[in-house]
Formats: sequence, C-alpha cells, structure tokens
Amino acid sequence: MSAKPPSHLKSLWKGKEKAAESELLDFEDLNPTITYRTLFAQNLGVRDPLRVIALCDSDAFYAACEMVRLDIPDKPLVVLQWQMLIAVNYPARKFGITRMMNVQEAKKLCPELEIIHVATYKEGEKEPGYWDNPDTRTHKVSLDLYRRESVKMLQMYKDGLPENAEIEKASIDEAFMDLTRPVRQIILDRYPYLAQVPEDALLGLDTPLPPPPPVSWEFGVLVPIDPSVEEEPEVPSTWHDVALSIGAECMEKVRQQISAKLGYTTSAGIARNKFLAKLCASYRKPMNQSILRNAAIPNYLKPMAFQKIRFLGGKLGKSLAGEYDVSTVADLLAISLDEMQNKFGEESIWIYEVLRGIDYTEGTAMFWLIDFRRPIQFVVKEKQTVNKSMLASKNLPQPITKVSEGYQWLRVLAAELALRLNEARETTPNLWPKTIVLSARNVKGMYGSLSPNSDSLISCSIAQDSRRSKQAPWPFVKEVTVDIVAAAADRLWKELADPHAPMKIIGISLGFTGVEGVESGLKSIDTFFKNPLKPTSKRALEEDLTESESDATTQRTIRNISKDLARASFVCSRCGQRSSLPPSATRTEEERQTALAMIQMEHEDFHLALDLSKAPDNVPPATKTGTDPKPKKKRRKESPHGIAKFFSKV
Ligand code: CTP
Ligand code: CA
Ligand code: CA
Repeated sequence: MSAKPPSHLKSLWKGKEKAAESELLDFEDLNPTITYRTLFAQNLGVRDPLRVIALCDSDAFYAACEMVRLDIPDKPLVVLQWQMLIAVNYPARKFGITRMMNVQEAKKLCPELEIIHVATYKEGEKEPGYWDNPDTRTHKVSLDLYRRESVKMLQMYKDGLPENAEIEKASIDEAFMDLTRPVRQIILDRYPYLAQVPEDALLGLDTPLPPPPPVSWEFGVLVPIDPSVEEEPEVPSTWHDVALSIGAECMEKVRQQISAKLGYTTSAGIARNKFLAKLCASYRKPMNQSILRNAAIPNYLKPMAFQKIRFLGGKLGKSLAGEYDVSTVADLLAISLDEMQNKFGEESIWIYEVLRGIDYTEGTAMFWLIDFRRPIQFVVKEKQTVNKSMLASKNLPQPITKVSEGYQWLRVLAAELALRLNEARETTPNLWPKTIVLSARNVKGMYGSLSPNSDSLISCSIAQDSRRSKQAPWPFVKEVTVDIVAAAADRLWKELADPHAPMKIIGISLGFTGVEGVESGLKSIDTFFKNPLKPTSKRALEEDLTESESDATTQRTIRNISKDLARASFVCSRCGQRSSLPPSATRTEEERQTALAMIQMEHEDFHLALDLSKAPDNVPPATKTGTDPKPKKKRRKESPHGIAKFFSKV
C-alpha cells in the first residue's frame, strides 16, 4: 500500500486536475456581446466592453534625459549613482550592461561607455549640479531633472491625445491613458451607420452591433493569439479590436510627437484594462507599442510565472506557491474563488480576477502601483491632481552625532524642497504647503549601513531605533527661498535634537505636507497678506476698505477690524515691530489665530534668515518658537490582517 502523498504534492495533483477542468470556464468574458445600448451608453466605467487603456513608459528614462540634456547621440550611456548604475540605455544593454551593476564591471564590458553621475545637491548650492566626484558624505542625489522632464512629457500626452482622453501619471516615466471615450467617438464618426439602431432590429437598443469591418493593425505589434503556431488562428475580429486599433493609432501619434519634440522614445501597451496595458507595454521594448487583444489574453497570461505579476511576487507569491505548489498563472487558475477567499480573505478576489485578465481599477493607486511594503489599499478611486506632500530626505553615511552637524544637511534638504515647491508653483501658482515637517531617525549605539548604489538604507542593526518628527505651520510667503525653508528647518531641528541625549542620526528628512492650491475666496497668496514681513497698518487697512466699500456695512467692518487689530497682532521681541492680520470678514476666530501664528513664525524666520545670511557658517542663534506642537499621543500600531499582512513592513 502506498503512503499518503505529502500535502504539497497532493495539492499539486489536485491543482493540475482542476486546471484542466476549469480551462474552458476561465476567461469567459473575453468576447462580450456589444449592443447599440452599450455603444451609446455615456458612462459604463471600468466595465465598459469597449474600454481601451494604454500605458506609456519611457525607454531607459534617466539615461534618455541625460542624453537629451547633453545632446549625446545614440551611443552606450549609463547613469550612475555613487558606484552603481541606475539607468542603462539600450545601446549599452547590448553589451550586457544591466541596472545595479557596478561601474567598473560595466566599463569592462564596454570601455567606450559614457558614464554620467546623477546630479547632486551640494551644501551651499541652491540648485543641484553635476560635480566631479560627488560624495555620498557631502552630496545628496537630485532627481529634479527627471521630474521636470516627466512633467513635460505628461503635458504632451494631454496636448497630443483627444481632449476627452483621461491621463493619469503612474510613475516618473509612465502614464495611463483611458482612451475609451475618444475611441468611441471615433468609432461613431468612422462608422456612421452605427449611430442609428436599424429599423428592422428586433431587440431595439439591445440588438448586437453588426460584424465589424476588417481591422487594420498597422500601429503596433500584436501579441499573438496562439504563440505556438506560426499563422494566426482564424478568430473573427470584434468591435473591441476596432477600438484597440483606434487607441493604437492615437498612441502612435502622441508617441511620435514626444519623440520629435522632447527626444524621448517610449513604449506602450494597449489593452482592455490597466493591468494588461502595463503588462504588455514591455512586450517589445524599446520604441514599440504592443496591442493585447482579448483573444490573446489567455495564452499571454497562462505560461507567465505568476510571481512576476507585481504583488504576486514577495511574501504573497511565496505563500501561494507553498500552498499550492504552483508556478504559472495557468496553475493558479485551478483555485476557486471560494478557496482563495477562505485562505486569503475577501479582498483576494483581485488575485482571482487578475489571473483571468480582469481588472476593474480606475485610479492611479492600483494594487500593482502601491509600494509593496505598505498595507495594501483596495479603495482605488481617488485621483490626485496635485502631489499633496513633498519630501527631501537623506540617509546619512556618517551619522549626525552633534546638534551642530545637522545644519549642513538641513540646507541641502531645504534647497531641494524650495526648488521642488517653486517648480510646482510654475504650473500651480497658488500652491501653498500647510505644514513643514522635519524628521530624523536616531540609532542609539549602532550605525546603519548604506546600500552602495543608492541612498537607501539596506542594513541597520537597530537596537533602539527611533524616529522623531517636529512640524510647524508654513507661513504665507510668495518667494520660497532656500534661506526661508532652511530657517524653518533649523528651528524645527532645535526643537527636535536634544543636545544632552546621545545622538546618532542616520536619516533625516524635510518635507511639506498639505500642499494644495489656495482655496478660492482667498484669491491668491499675494493678496491674502499684502506683505507678510511688513505688518499692515490699521490706516492702510482702512484705506483699502474704503476704496472698495463705502456704505454703512463698511463702517461696521472697519469698527470690527479695529477690534480685531487689537486682538490679532503681536509685537516682535527682537525688533519691536507690531504685525497684524489684515481684515477678512469671512475668517473665523480659529483661522485668525492660525494665520496670526503663521505671520509670527514667518517674522521669526525672517530674523533667522537674516542671522543666517550674516553668519552663514555659524549655528543660528536660538529664538523662541511661536509654534510648539503638542506631543502626539502614541498610536498603537494595528497589525494588518487578511491579505494586507503580505504587504506589511518586514
Ligand atoms: N529607477 C531607479 N531605481 C529603480 C527603478 C527605476 O532609479 N529601482 C529609475 C531608472 O533609472 C529609470 C526610471 O526610474 O530610468 C524608470 O524606471 P523603469 O521604467 O523601470 O526603467 P527604464 O530605465 O526607463 O528602462 P525601461 O526602458 O526598461 O523602462
Ligand atoms: Ca521606463
Ligand atoms: Ca517605468
């Protein structure tokens, strides 16, 4: 009598048998009936059977940015960060050079290799630069050039695609385009006979559309329906194929514009959802766009090692592989939805669906775009137009052990932050951060070790690791200079760093949070406070008002302002100057107090900036702080459950 097979073998056997059984049932929605009703529907959203999504990704992006900046023709080039390659252009890839390779190794493979070290911030410089021999102990990597180019590219997608296309930035070098609406419009324009339900159609609006015309696939590479045979099987085209081909036409046009105007080549994937568009964008990289028809989805997905699908790698993938002894998507198709949900929680329906090429997500925060170390989020509808926070951070090769050692890094971080905000203000002039936050990671007794290729910390024997943060409201200022940001940072640093406690700070970050366009009603930052550094006089305020208002209401308002002036002002202890709030009939007391605190802080920052400019090498003198945030209550860390535990920090 044979012994019972080990459990993993048993599940393998079970899995394969089930796979064969369920093969026919999988991918069943690949050819949905498209009726006049679906064609005319205004908003079918993510379940629209004519949905067309593209993902466009730049080829060797950082390397391409450097080639454009330096006007270097197509020859082997890499971008270096300290000793490691972070971007390798395609000519260099031909020599076997890959990302994360050591620069010496790469040079051996291609002696004529062009090597560009990524720009860095250097203390005392307002802008990042390309220095000889940048050093991780004194410089900080800047990705500003790439961010700027990324913004330009995004703008070109917006300008070059039909107006009703939806564009969402997905990462520094890629964006999703929802082309469903423009494509539908083009279908109706090109095939005007579809605009009317035929009179003899028995089902009226629910009548299926007539068979589509032959589809031309001149724009892009087709993922084959059956890669095991040379000739394409005879599969009738669908209206979704027509839609995809029109989407490909739009993408080809905009990609050519980007290449001609900005000099960047891109690769795109065009499919019925975001997951598949992203997946097939790299099908024939570089300088290609790939089209994944619904009929080609099963054979494209099935042989794929499922751990290659983002978020099915890592802990979750290992767990799936261990549980079922499976390796490809096809193997996993055997697992029923019930079984999956029993093991991995309700939300694991996304795994079940994604294995079948189904993905109904629409926002940018999709599961495969979320940082895998954070708990996964499933509500993904929110669309962000403005980045709500900006962060400049540095892992320090040499820990800060004295308060005075912090200032050099604060200036470096302040320079980056000021530049970022000012650049963002070029497109959104009224952008204003609510808070500035300084955060430091302290390791008592141990040093962290830096990844040689990046600014990231790879190992750290953290015995008593602690992160401390301080924050303060950000004042209304039109000009965000390095000095002002650095002065605010210095103030926070003094609150945060305890000169009497042991200090080994291995990471420091400075950020703006709540970065938003100023609400309507406040008009603009400029007009909100005339000049925040120069207090507004009562008389000037009265004059302002009498210009615009001349009736009894005005008089009452002026009387109220006079009272407010008495309440809402402060006298600087350093220069004796009184600063007051300007009038605002709409402001509540609480808002008034916050605004006053901001003016006060800014006034103190002004002094700090002056102090700094007089004695740049010295530690700025201590001043009283007007904003001393209450210590936050410690929040108990909730341990993730269900599927989220596979995405929690290790
Ligand atoms: N990048 C990075 N570190 C990573 C991943 C990406 O610094 N772990 C940078 C790369 O330098 C790259 C850019 O982010 O230029 C975009 O990344 P990605 O699209 O993955 O690679 P590309 O270099 O653009 O190459 P490809 O043509 O394969 O897209
Ligand atoms: Ca890329
Ligand atoms: Ca990319």
